[in-house]
Amino acid sequence: IIDQAAPIGVFDSGLGGLTVLQALRERLPHERFVFLGDSARCPYGPREPKEVKAFVLQICSHLARRGCKMIIIACNTATAAGLPAAQQAFDIPIVGVVMPGARAAVHMTRNRRVGVIATEGTVQQGVYGEAIHHLDAGIKVIQKATPEFVSIAESGFEEMDEGTTQAAPFSLKEECQRVAQGYLAPLRAEGIDTLVLGCTHYPLIQELISQEMGPSVTLVSSAEETAREVRAILSRRDELRSPGEDDGVEVLITGDDATKFTRVAQKVLGITPPITKVMLDEVREEGEGTS
Ligand code: DGL
Repeated sequence: IIDQAAPIGVFDSGLGGLTVLQALRERLPHERFVFLGDSARCPYGPREPKEVKAFVLQICSHLARRGCKMIIIACNTATAAGLPAAQQAFDIPIVGVVMPGARAAVHMTRNRRVGVIATEGTVQQGVYGEAIHHLDAGIKVIQKATPEFVSIAESGFEEMDEGTTQAAPFSLKEECQRVAQGYLAPLRAEGIDTLVLGCTHYPLIQELISQEMGPSVTLVSSAEETAREVRAILSRRDELRSPGEDDGVEVLITGDDATKFTRVAQKVLGITPPITKVMLDEVREEGEGTS
């Protein structure tokens, strides 16, 4: 028996998933959320899919043990590597971010030339090309791995100051802009009109990306479309939570970066959620019985 008051679990390798969490909160204001940021093992992008799949199963076990009624994999790399395995292993609904992002892009493109930027793991597994072509086989998809964007997002691009100091004799912001130009100029040259932010960290540096792409390219993130899908699932199953006293967000992290999570949560969610560290060993052990 499903408890409608049970929380929804959401996870990512790090901060990026908070952008998905915010879209979920907007669409589902009465729900409770448990967010897990696996920051001790971030980034996922360069890792072998097999390893990331094991992480996904461990974290899903952990969130299921906490009584979650549904789980959102708010990470494209983890969705690509572990969504099918997780859906096979658990009996609660598990939703990833790749199909929703693909759907939003298919709906939006007019010239049917769509770019996708993502981690190496996501690009290598080709999941966006597959998902987009599943919906519209006539769309040209140009995929590019842009892994350095994850570290730029993690280090807080928007807060970077323009100036140079003796300790850093170059402007970090300009350095990031150079990276962005190197990654994005070839995509611009392809004449795309829609760019999928195929990594949930990238909306955190949307400003940097849109500056480079210019106003004629629409940026699409999975967050909004994922939130619509989650709402539709809960509503069809009659599992939406009724307005209550204790809605809200709890954040769990596996690393030691609570200060960073607090800062980004304040910025993205506009609240200061309680943050608790969970031991990685605990999460690892829970995953053992699953696969
Ligand atoms: N946020 C993750 C994603 O959506 C990737 C970040 C990482 O490499 O860990 O793919």
